[in-house]
Amino acid sequence: MGLVSNPRGSRAEAAQEGMPVSVSAGPKRRWTNLMPLVVALVVIAEIAFLGRLDMAKNAAMVDTLADFFYRSHVAAVDGGDIDFVVSSAGRTPPSETCEEWLEREDAVAYSRDFSKDPVFVSGADQEWKTCAVGCKFGFSGDKKPDAAFGLPQSSETASVLRSMESAQYYAENNIAIARRRGYSIVMTTSLSSDVPVGYFSWAEYDIMAPVKPKTESALAAAFISNCGARNFRLQALEALEKLNIKIDSYGGCHRNRDGNVNKVEALKHYKFSLAFENSNEEDYVTEKFFQSLVAGNVPVVVGAPNIQEFAPSRGSVLHIKEIEDVESIAKSMRYLAENPEAYNQSLSWKYEGPSDSFKALVDMAAVHSSCRLCIHLATVSREKEESSPNFKKRPCKCTRGSETVYHIYARERGRFELESIYLRSSNLTLGALKSAVVSKFTSLNHVPIWKSERPEVLRGGNDLKLYKIYPVGLTQRQALYTFSFKGDEDFRNHLERNPCAKFEVIFV
Ligand SMILES: *[C@@H]1O[C@H](CO)[C@@H](O)[C@H](O)[C@H]1NC(C)=O
Ligand SMILES: *[C@@H]1O[C@H](CO)[C@@H](O)[C@H](O)[C@H]1NC(C)=O
Repeated sequence: MGLVSNPRGSRAEAAQEGMPVSVSAGPKRRWTNLMPLVVALVVIAEIAFLGRLDMAKNAAMVDTLADFFYRSHVAAVDGGDIDFVVSSAGRTPPSETCEEWLEREDAVAYSRDFSKDPVFVSGADQEWKTCAVGCKFGFSGDKKPDAAFGLPQSSETASVLRSMESAQYYAENNIAIARRRGYSIVMTTSLSSDVPVGYFSWAEYDIMAPVKPKTESALAAAFISNCGARNFRLQALEALEKLNIKIDSYGGCHRNRDGNVNKVEALKHYKFSLAFENSNEEDYVTEKFFQSLVAGNVPVVVGAPNIQEFAPSRGSVLHIKEIEDVESIAKSMRYLAENPEAYNQSLSWKYEGPSDSFKALVDMAAVHSSCRLCIHLATVSREKEESSPNFKKRPCKCTRGSETVYHIYARERGRFELESIYLRSSNLTLGALKSAVVSKFTSLNHVPIWKSERPEVLRGGNDLKLYKIYPVGLTQRQALYTFSFKGDEDFRNHLERNPCAKFEVIFV
């Protein structure tokens, strides 16, 4: 008798037998005249159930029936009103949890299966290990690409601008200018671009390489290929020399050492290195800086105004923001050079590991930018589809009595598929969100995407540590530095405005 193990089935059966059970019932239905029948059914169910208790394999089944029984009784005692549980899309059967119901009702299939019909980007060949979404690069034959590198062609194909040059030298790399020229996807060093292409990555730079003894007598090394630049780097170099900071210069600019050396190996023996970029542009941080970190120098930077966001720890980078700073920076260099403990403190991240903020930044590059482009395209494609009626009718939340369960989704940055997460109105807080995310991914035995990319010493244990959580679609600048919910109220408003809200999380 299906009634026993599956009270929901019982209603279906009852309906077949002509009982007025309507799944699309209105918000509230008076069952007063049917009460005796309902109670009788429940009693029969209970008797049958008790008789089979030894056969019950699954405690959840007991809960389910108890729940059903309790609710019916309460309703009967209340005077015959059964308050059917109602959500925006209809009633949930009492035996089913809100979570189960939402999992089913919200599961609208997307029309495109990227594993069979991968994102196709034309105009470049690209190799990478794996990508979280089907992703193919090449030169288009007869297949219509989702995106293409190069100047905008057709409105159906997204046009991609990719460059690692500074926008001060190549104005077309400025995001606003690129958009005006019709590029829908911008990939530059700017963390505000759609798919940032940074110089940094764990694979490219052995950032945790051990510190070597500082055997050179000059304080700093410089590898500046030419003196020209769109900033004051040449003036800064000359000002430091004038202040008697001894600099070994291996590059074409003010050369006083033979430049035929392995750059990083040479740098290792200096306390400082001059990481002077050719332009001062936000997020434009090149190999000069990262090689200095590998070498275990304190980089002295002329370049990105936000260079401290790229610092592996506080006090690990000296920044000449403007030419007037040279004097105080020279003083700091001299102080650190003469105080081994203070100097060693600047490199403490080499021993204790860099900050979470630094890890979260460099981990972005654990996923190849071409793969991140595919994830971006596939995400945009799905978002478009979500505005269709099929998706609009997803309930996304479920109310029972005084409690509402919210269905939200989350994925790790660098992955594509989203996981279901449920939050309850009784505890709709950022704290509850964070703990629900961590328990969900922990229950999935989730392995952070950077695990195999980071140096061994920075991989940590198996516990997931949540660093950021933000709505899908934000730029990395917003995600890493500028976005945060302004408290629980702000978060709740976000959920109300965004049914089935999607989040991206960064673990460190
Ligand atoms: C620098 O500090 C680390 C600990 O942070 C220590 O292990 C190391 O020996 C120190 N090195 C020197 C040269 O003092
Ligand atoms: C709400 O969630 C937080 C985080 O999971 C938890 O610490 C707290 O105990 C919960 N409060 C209630 C009332 O359930």
